[in-house]
Amino acid sequence: EKGGYDHFMLKEIFEQPSTVFDCLRGRVDAANGTITMAGVEANIDILKNAPRILIIACGTSWHAGLLAEYIFEELCRTPVEVEYASEFRYRNPIVNKGDVIIAVSQSGETADTLVAIEKAKEQGALIFGIVNVVGSSIARVSQAGAYTHAGPEIGVASTKAFTAQLAVLTIIALKLGYEKGTLDNKRFLHLMNELQDIPEKIPAALNQAEHVKQLAYKYKDARDFLYLGRGYNFPIALEGALKLKEISYIHAEGYPAAEMKHGPIALVDENLPVVFIATKDSYHEKIISNIQEIKARKGKVIAVITEGDDVIAKMADDVIEVPAADELVAPMLSVIPMQLLAYYIGVAKGLDVDKPRNLAKSVTVE
Ligand code: M6R
Repeated sequence: EKGGYDHFMLKEIFEQPSTVFDCLRGRVDAANGTITMAGVEANIDILKNAPRILIIACGTSWHAGLLAEYIFEELCRTPVEVEYASEFRYRNPIVNKGDVIIAVSQSGETADTLVAIEKAKEQGALIFGIVNVVGSSIARVSQAGAYTHAGPEIGVASTKAFTAQLAVLTIIALKLGYEKGTLDNKRFLHLMNELQDIPEKIPAALNQAEHVKQLAYKYKDARDFLYLGRGYNFPIALEGALKLKEISYIHAEGYPAAEMKHGPIALVDENLPVVFIATKDSYHEKIISNIQEIKARKGKVIAVITEGDDVIAKMADDVIEVPAADELVAPMLSVIPMQLLAYYIGVAKGLDVDKPRNLAKSVTVE
């Protein structure tokens, strides 16, 4: 059932060209300039008029939600808040009639997320579920939704569900931005094409697997890792650090790259690998300065870069290349090296990557 792969996690990482494709199929039609998503269409007025969108999730799904905040605010100009379900449910949260709650969950069974949306539903919000497991509890409590269609995810570390969540959230933002008129037709068509090209670009990111494996052996004995990114790649830094923690048991922290000088830079010495997610986007110049700040303190820089970026390639100790893409959709590519690095370090350390200690696939207790 592992389809020739050593672990489910690796199989699921390699499934992503087809899972993202399946997620877009029948929804995004760039040639005709249309997006079809029944759950959005049926609630379009509520979504368009929502004073606020709240995204509720845990773990990796929360990281997808954080990235969605950036995308929704950019394309739809609706204020978005992203909440950890466990915090939201216990703090007498403000939910007003008209607010839209987007719950993101692979399993659809995460207890904190489920209770959080049940509460918000009572307070009059529309609950929109983005769930992978069909017919799960969160899917049933939601009044509208869109499935991620990533297929069963067996590995405890979420990989293909994450890229599918990003794809669905981006489709919704595109549709809503277009309907609201906050996204002009030219950019709408451009982003639709960029999104539709992602499944064809993922294999090039996966082709780096052997190279990432070598890096895994080089860095596997590090005690700590820092992951840094800016803008759309900041949530990917958080996700990279979470993947490494859960699979390799190495302490890792994700930070916005510019925030490091407010504290974490004190950790940097010649023993600290720092992973930069530094693809070519509007933050490129800024992140180059951040890389220089780490190099000046003798940190080891592993940079995820856009293919052919010689500037960063010259500065970094090691690079991993991913194909070029619009910055809004690029995280679906830049997260792949994060998944591979965590996987191969876990394997290099002889750990059970599909079933890391202390973790369960879905957290059905609070
Ligand atoms: O099933 P869910 O998406 O609701 O699960 C949320 C988290 O428990 C989950 O993403 C967890 O953080 C993963 N083990 C991360 O790889």
